[in-house]
Amino acid sequence: MEKRAGKRVGVLTSGGDAPGLNAAIRAFARTALDEYGMTVFGFEQGYKGLVENNYRELKRRELSGILTQGGTILGASREKPFKNSGLKKKSKQTAVEKIKENYRDLNLDCLVVLGGNGTNTTGYLLANEGIPVIGIPKTIDNDIEGTDETIGFDTALDIATEAIDRLHSTAASHNRVMVIEVMGHKAGWLTLYSGIAGGGDVILIPEIPYNIDAIAQHLKERTNDGKNFSIVVVAEGAISESEARLSKHEFKKRRKEMIGSIGYRVAHEIEKKTALDVRVTVLGYVQRGGIPSARDRLLATELGAAAAKMVEYEQYGQLVAMVNNKTVGIPLAAAADKTKKVPLTHTVLQTARSIGTCFGD
Ligand code: F6P
Repeated sequence: MEKRAGKRVGVLTSGGDAPGLNAAIRAFARTALDEYGMTVFGFEQGYKGLVENNYRELKRRELSGILTQGGTILGASREKPFKNSGLKKKSKQTAVEKIKENYRDLNLDCLVVLGGNGTNTTGYLLANEGIPVIGIPKTIDNDIEGTDETIGFDTALDIATEAIDRLHSTAASHNRVMVIEVMGHKAGWLTLYSGIAGGGDVILIPEIPYNIDAIAQHLKERTNDGKNFSIVVVAEGAISESEARLSKHEFKKRRKEMIGSIGYRVAHEIEKKTALDVRVTVLGYVQRGGIPSARDRLLATELGAAAAKMVEYEQYGQLVAMVNNKTVGIPLAAAADKTKKVPLTHTVLQTARSIGTCFGD
């Protein structure tokens, strides 16, 4: 009997880049090529490449030497084809229609999307349009439902923790309060974990609206106890108690009017309430860059290889997740349109409270 040709698979990386993406592309494509004889096409700059039919075939050679590289060899973008639903000028088609046409023309069997919540939500919507999709979870925010960890989180955690470690020197030498702003708009995982690992005295996460008086009180008590410095770790999405009471619209409006990011506002408020000397560091994109940690490389390799296996066995419409150290497929529907937040009963949070960390509440 004639041997059936291997599947034809499109792969893309969408949303913010994260360390370990290349390791995942490498593991997925190597397994797909070597183990299952598939043909792999890499779409450039996320869903943008899929809409614009911008792709290249990924061959073995391109997959060498990328395990340790940050970023993504495919490029990324925040293109959201279901949100930008207007007609494309030249073709008079919507982005989703273009995707379906390009997918068909390339005679693909499946699409593998590596990304965060936005990416996997789009993947889920494409699956509803009849395209077989498999998602791989990556984001430094670690906020994807259904997986214990996402690609990029561990590296970002190391970077943020090291940054906090380094701030201790100046904080102690100059008797200062150091405010460090860590990424994470909606979920506080990165701030919570790096804050604890780096010995933060105050940790502010989006899940726990803060009260500036509680923070000021905590800092004053530290001063009274003879501690000459303090470290305040703030998530970029941290909110005050009064902001938490606002409507979504009013909150967005207020944030637009805010000068600088939340770290600056918290620093200003602390200064006003305590008269302590305060400085701010906004860590920004440093957290997403550079060499992936060993743990991220392992996670990416496991998830990438598992995704290829799922393509081979046509387990479509799934996200490849890591649960209790095992790769499993969970329905994309379970992760789409959701953000995994830090539960207020989380043991790590409770441990931090038990050692005296202030969460501003
Ligand atoms: O999703 C990852 C992330 O780095 C978030 O922590 C951050 O809020 C956001 O991306 C920044 O997005 P952009 O790269 O579009 O500025």
